[in-house]
Amino acid sequence: MKPLFMWAGGKTKLLDTFAEHLPENFDTYVEPFFGGGAVFTWAYAKNPDAKFVINDINPHIMEIYRAIKGDLQEFCTILDDLEAQYISLLPPTYKKTTVIDGKKKTKWLPLEGGAPDKELEKKYKLKGRTYDWDKIYEIRPSRRTFFFKTRSLYQENLHNWSETKRAAYLYFLMKTGFNGVWQAKKSTGLYNTPCGLMRHKDSIYDKKNVVSWNAALQNATILSEDFKETLEHASAGSFVYLDPPYRGGFADYDTVKDDNFQETVISFFESCKNKGSYCLLSNRDLGDNFFESRKGTNKLVYFNVTYTVGRKKKNINGSHDATKATEILMIGS
Ligand SMILES: C[S@@+](CC[C@H](N)C(=O)[O-])C[C@H]1O[C@@H](n2cnc3c(N)ncnc32)[C@H](O)[C@@H]1O
Repeated sequence: MKPLFMWAGGKTKLLDTFAEHLPENFDTYVEPFFGGGAVFTWAYAKNPDAKFVINDINPHIMEIYRAIKGDLQEFCTILDDLEAQYISLLPPTYKKTTVIDGKKKTKWLPLEGGAPDKELEKKYKLKGRTYDWDKIYEIRPSRRTFFFKTRSLYQENLHNWSETKRAAYLYFLMKTGFNGVWQAKKSTGLYNTPCGLMRHKDSIYDKKNVVSWNAALQNATILSEDFKETLEHASAGSFVYLDPPYRGGFADYDTVKDDNFQETVISFFESCKNKGSYCLLSNRDLGDNFFESRKGTNKLVYFNVTYTVGRKKKNINGSHDATKATEILMIGS
């Protein structure tokens, strides 16, 4: 089982590094900052009979987990229908392979009928940065125009739809949107990522993985609250894994607000520990001893990581710059 979608700060790549600090035994697993739930996939594989409490303040992604847990068939029916419509349409590019001096070279070139028609899109531009995607799709059906038409339909109607329909539409968009990342419109808080490369062959999602999540979530309580509300679920025998947004990573938090938030997370960690839970906390080290000076009796381990995020500029040789960072893991003791 792997996470259902890419998530900023997702911990899949760090699982091996965390391995020696993960607990042998636990009867309840509590994850208050769930996102894509990479550590949950470890916890479920380790002890499928445990009780799980998963929470994230983002209600839209928690609806995806709730729909997969409780309404799998309807979720897949809606998703499969969107997938079939999308796959039948032209993608924006096609792959052209040429052989020069015995060496194969591949290029992605604009595909007639699938690539953006700037003139047409300009013609149906509405106020602000919106477009009449229904009209544009009607004139020029393609994967790109279908994506934007579906995104508009979702943004305009989600409040009148069933939870399962909302979740399936959002999952479709997340699987076809740019880099699989979540980006929300500031004014509405709704998913607003642009379209991706749309190079899918015959499927946009891994159905087997979705079915595995359906099984894994059966023992899970799925919440969408502020992390502090999950304290009541921690007790002796619980494993609590805290993975808040990285320090320094909040777009709309100033340093003081950010540090206050991180301190609240550390006190939450202490409260869970006082209840007898085994606790881990991940974050990023900014080199100013913030966590070191607040670790109390807990142990702090440091990992050097490199990561690439978003649409980075290519170097001359075609590679992408990787950013070096130091991750920390605070271990309750
Ligand atoms: C670093 S991500 C977690 C990534 C996750 N561990 C994974 O592997 O995908 C942090 C998450 O915290 C959530 N979050 C932010 N503030 C929160 C709050 N006050 N309470 C609960 N969740 C919050 C965000 O929506 C985001 O999904």
